[in-house]
Amino acid sequence: MTEKIFTTNWFTATKNIWDNLLPKEKPKRILEVGSYEGASVCYIIEKLGNDIDLEIHCVDTWSGGIEHQPGGSAQSDMVSVEARFQNNVEVSKKTASRPVDLVIHKGYSDFHLAKLLASGKAEYFDFIYIDGSHQAPDVLADAILGFKLLRVGGIMAFDDYLWFEPLPYGQDLVRSPKIAIDAFVNIFCRKLRVMPGGGQQFYIRKLAT
Ligand SMILES: C[S@@+](CC[C@H](N)C(=O)[O-])C[C@H]1O[C@@H](n2cnc3c(N)ncnc32)[C@H](O)[C@@H]1O
Repeated sequence: MTEKIFTTNWFTATKNIWDNLLPKEKPKRILEVGSYEGASVCYIIEKLGNDIDLEIHCVDTWSGGIEHQPGGSAQSDMVSVEARFQNNVEVSKKTASRPVDLVIHKGYSDFHLAKLLASGKAEYFDFIYIDGSHQAPDVLADAILGFKLLRVGGIMAFDDYLWFEPLPYGQDLVRSPKIAIDAFVNIFCRKLRVMPGGGQQFYIRKLAT
């Protein structure tokens, strides 16, 4: 196919922040946890792929989070989602004049982030986008492993800081990202700086190992 196909507009709010952030930071080595149809990774390729050589790692189970399962708030056919991801990134790569090394890690983020660490990629990435599972225990694991993979001076962004699953019994803190991001930021406060202007997202810069 020659066209990208996206069925959600989740990336719109992120785009407004990245329009300013990415040209300033010019990250070369990027890690994304949670790629879905590739909206965020396609944006990165198209925004930076004519200026710098990119190495992008995408981690996703392509089986969805709890919200994508039957009966969930964002129920999706994940086989089609993965096919659209493959198509969309191929279309975007063709727009880049510089090389784009796209590495796809299919599976759970805790396993693949630990594997990246074990393969020698500690402090390797310039920019990490955490947008995978929105369950607090998973977000906490992504944050801690991601921080180890981030270089000093690099940025880690979390999507859906204030997201809550619509549940019959109301909001459940443990089934949302905020409590995990808050715990991570508090515990690592001497090694990072919170960046302003994230809106529904949360941005930190790594100051120390
Ligand atoms: C909100 S979507 C990502 C959206 C994408 N970043 C964008 O902007 O279009 C979340 C993705 O995380 C994946 N996911 C959920 N839990 C995961 C886990 N534990 N490990 C890896 N991927 C996971 C889902 O399969 C889904 O594709």
